[in-house]
Amino acid sequence: MSNTVQAPLIAMRLSAIRYAAAGINLYEFTALDGDALPAFSAGAHIDLHLPNGLVRQYSLCNPPHERRHYVVGVKRDINSRGGSRCVHDELRAGSVLQVGGPRNNFELHEDAPHTVLIAGGIGVTPIACMVERLRVLGRPFELHYSVRRREEAAFLDVLPGDGCHLHVDAEHGGAPLPVAQIVAAAPAGAHLYCCGPGPMLDAFEAAAAASGRPPALVHIERFSPVQPAAVAGGFTVKLARSGGSAYVAPGQTILETLRARGIDVPASCEQGVCGTCETRVLAGTPDHRDSLLSEDERRANDVMMVCCSGSKDDLLVLDL
Ligand code: FES
Repeated sequence: MSNTVQAPLIAMRLSAIRYAAAGINLYEFTALDGDALPAFSAGAHIDLHLPNGLVRQYSLCNPPHERRHYVVGVKRDINSRGGSRCVHDELRAGSVLQVGGPRNNFELHEDAPHTVLIAGGIGVTPIACMVERLRVLGRPFELHYSVRRREEAAFLDVLPGDGCHLHVDAEHGGAPLPVAQIVAAAPAGAHLYCCGPGPMLDAFEAAAAASGRPPALVHIERFSPVQPAAVAGGFTVKLARSGGSAYVAPGQTILETLRARGIDVPASCEQGVCGTCETRVLAGTPDHRDSLLSEDERRANDVMMVCCSGSKDDLLVLDL
């Protein structure tokens, strides 16, 4: 992670909607003037500013050499907090949306001697982009893509090929993808990536730790938080650049406190999974609750996600 400068929002047209699999559509966005879009790397996501006021992150699934459009895959989640439901039910071809990014918290190491990609369900979206990129580069990789039922498998027009394995739980008596086995069998020095539901990510992290793989070779992307936001409050945030300070009361996050004072901090997911609110820490010890920073990055204490993380000290000085 790095303290990313916020990219300006760009108005884009939803130029096409295509069926990808049961409950999953592909949404293609183009610039209003048809110009090339900002470059992105495999694993990146964009922020869609939806008509219902929500901002949601979706991984880009088309290959990075395609500069005239962005494609995201969205699954209509029955437990939707309003994002995927709005995308599926309200967006129409021709709609114009504000789009932020691209940003990348799940960067593909293109020079890896071998790459192991593990995808579960809609988690295949950034992985599909990685597959296409690795093919263009001619780099060795293997893909393990898991779905519960065959009709839920997307990208079957581009994914099949050497080293690509589809695991359909229902065709294995409901047994999930053997993530631990795949991780254990990966060659030493391989970079491993996993994107999928929480239990798959937990199994992946546990298997990577058990096999003693260096954290720098193990990469995950989460769509939902692993822990609740810090709302114990009872500390003061000092804003080094703009001056002033704010007391974070119990029951509030830093982001909520700052917003209540009219201080605008870029934020998107507000769950610690996208990195939009990443803020430099100049003094104090954050109580990290995000799902992005590595253990080393947490220990360094120099950045934090203010949407969900709190403070272990009475005073936190932020570069705001
Ligand atoms: S707004 Fe997404 S990590 Fe804070």
